[in-house]
Amino acid sequence: MMARDITLETMSERHLDDAVRLSREAGWPHRREDWAMVLSASDGLVALEDEAVVGTILTTNFDPSTAAINMVIVDASLRGRGLGRRLMDAALSRAGSRGCRLVATQEGLPLYEKLGFVATGEIVQHQGVPERTRGVAAIEWAGDKDSARIADLDAEAQGFRRDGVLAALSRTARFAVIREGGTVEAFAARRPFGRGVVVGPIVARSPEEALQLLDTVLAEEPEGAFVRVDTDRTTGLGEPLTERGLVHVGRGITMRRAPVAPVSITPYRTFALVNQALG
Ligand SMILES: CC(C)(COP(=O)(O)OP(=O)(O)OC[C@H]1O[C@@H](n2cnc3c(N)ncnc32)[C@H](O)[C@@H]1OP(=O)(O)O)[C@@H](O)C(=O)NCCC(=O)NCCS
Repeated sequence: MMARDITLETMSERHLDDAVRLSREAGWPHRREDWAMVLSASDGLVALEDEAVVGTILTTNFDPSTAAINMVIVDASLRGRGLGRRLMDAALSRAGSRGCRLVATQEGLPLYEKLGFVATGEIVQHQGVPERTRGVAAIEWAGDKDSARIADLDAEAQGFRRDGVLAALSRTARFAVIREGGTVEAFAARRPFGRGVVVGPIVARSPEEALQLLDTVLAEEPEGAFVRVDTDRTTGLGEPLTERGLVHVGRGITMRRAPVAPVSITPYRTFALVNQALG
């Protein structure tokens, strides 16, 4: 039962400082710019109590089939009183008939299960200051003309389009690419995030290709750079990431709520996430 008077309002840039405070209090590394990036591709809500932000949630409508729910936070002093559910109900209605995905913390899991989400897998978070790697000479950095192909590869690997996310990413990310006969066949995005940089998404046809891309990106990082990679546990990247000095520090549970986009057969796979919010 909500004891206090709390209203929900559309999230805008003026709420970002409060959102950063809430996510820091929850132990998340997001900077203002990281919130702004996800918000620019999403539809956000804040819970307000006397003008103060006490809750956040974003709905990222990727395409007509699929959405993600993310950045779900309730101020610690208000947890367990139904605000999380209220935010979820509002965010789900903003997703309309789309199938919804999310990456859950252990704390969020019971709430999502009650709302019909089912666990589908596990994300492992690796980070640290990497060992020096050697790049692969054939890998190059993408130019503007490669954007459409990169968005197509991402869609092929995901099973749905997320052009808005790719457009938001391209404002801060550089993309390393593997070409065959002039066509981009694999890529890795690198951008500033949290305490350092994130490498992801990585879309490739094999773990070997994904690691070649990663090593080439890491080879260009300055000495001492702090790097994070989030990957699905089943990609097999966990051990090679640890060997490179990016150790396993946390996990998240991937969840879905029907309808689920049909699985297509494709050689391309997502080996690293944009982040846990966007998958
Ligand atoms: C996850 C979080 C948003 C939940 O917010 P909340 O306001 O406490 O959630 P609610 O009070 O609405 O609880 C929602 C439901 O989950 C249930 N629930 C909550 N915690 C539970 C637990 N530990 N075990 C079992 N059920 C639990 C509640 O009973 C409630 O069910 P009901 O609506 O049928 O009564 C909040 O704990 C939080 O901000 N955590 C830190 C950030 C985080 O991890 N966010 C999730 C990111 S994926």
